[in-house]
Amino acid sequence: MKGGRPETRLIEAGRRKEWTQGLVSPAVWRASTILFDSVAELKAANPPQQGVLHYGRNGTPTSWALCEALTEMEPGAAMTLVYPSGSAAVASALLAVLEAGDELLMVDSAYGPTRALCDGLLKRFGVTTIYYDPTIGGGIEKLIGDKTRAIFMESPGTYSFEVQDVPAICAVAKARGLATLLDNTWATPLFFPAMAAGVDLAILACTKYIGGHGDLMLGSVTATEEMADRLEKARRVLGQMAGPDDCWLALRGLRTLDVRLRRHQENGLKVARWLKAQPQVARVLHPAMEDCPGHEIWARDFLGATGLFSFALRDGDDAARARMIDSLERFGIGYSWGAFESLALPVDPVRTAGRADYGGPLVRLHIGLESPDDLIEDLAAALARYGSGE
Ligand SMILES: Cc1ncc(COP(=O)(O)O)c(C=O)c1O
Repeated sequence: MKGGRPETRLIEAGRRKEWTQGLVSPAVWRASTILFDSVAELKAANPPQQGVLHYGRNGTPTSWALCEALTEMEPGAAMTLVYPSGSAAVASALLAVLEAGDELLMVDSAYGPTRALCDGLLKRFGVTTIYYDPTIGGGIEKLIGDKTRAIFMESPGTYSFEVQDVPAICAVAKARGLATLLDNTWATPLFFPAMAAGVDLAILACTKYIGGHGDLMLGSVTATEEMADRLEKARRVLGQMAGPDDCWLALRGLRTLDVRLRRHQENGLKVARWLKAQPQVARVLHPAMEDCPGHEIWARDFLGATGLFSFALRDGDDAARARMIDSLERFGIGYSWGAFESLALPVDPVRTAGRADYGGPLVRLHIGLESPDDLIEDLAAALARYGSGE
């Protein structure tokens, strides 16, 4: 039975009997060659489509089950494709909509490698990127010219957490015939249904919360009906596909997304509120807290907050920040986020569309599923050392 509330869809979506054979989850189907009984049958499998075995690069029931489940999590979506990483999903989505000579409007608070794609490869292929302030909202209209083809959003921004007015930007884009893309990795469709807000291509680094256990690399793009064909054609010629083991792990992670995200939210807010009261902290950038740019948009549009946010150290420099992070005992130091464990990372957002002053060097925290009281004790000890100049 299709439909149901989001929590129910998370449990039921993608579990077709012909894919699971009665198992709770589909098996890991590994394939390159698929054998056909005749040339006629081989020809009938063309062009490749989800749900019809064709060749390993075009998926098996393991990837189709994940794609269908992600599509069902996004009301208004027609299909989902998977990629070997979140960055591959970002690149493939952009390559699906852009052509040489186009202009792309890219949010200034975007994930670093997304910026690098625009400033490097896309530029080489004749696409010009214009960065815009994440708080621009409907004002983006004034940046649209004859060559503008697409608007890329990431809300909130990965390092500095400005929340964008996605519905306002999408409304302008629709009126001007532009494609809209959103990196929705922070909220996932559970806390921000992107298509309902008007987005054409919703991108997830499934490496983070969908997987949830720090043990896989995966990306996805969910598309509207109008974008589906373009996206699939680009995927096919770019040779993009994710391995079945990673799809299987992501599908397993997806089933518990609701309970995990709610605990990340609760723990994250407890730590963020505590940090805000500490004298060594200049500012906390958390979409659910009032001094975060775009907080009122978060309150209007989002159904929850997750466990990733930043804070600025008062009067600090790079070396003092490194000492503070090094002295944390429970937080891991490393890239990525969205798994069960807590992480700390120094972040230095690059800005070209405007100046951003955070009041000190930024530390990005991912708050995991540990007791927030243990995490607070760890942060308290590290901040006390930081404050004493040790
Ligand atoms: C917001 C965001 N988008 C995309 C990515 C890229 O995902 P991946 O690491 O799977 O390539 C990341 C990774 O940190 C991210 O934080």
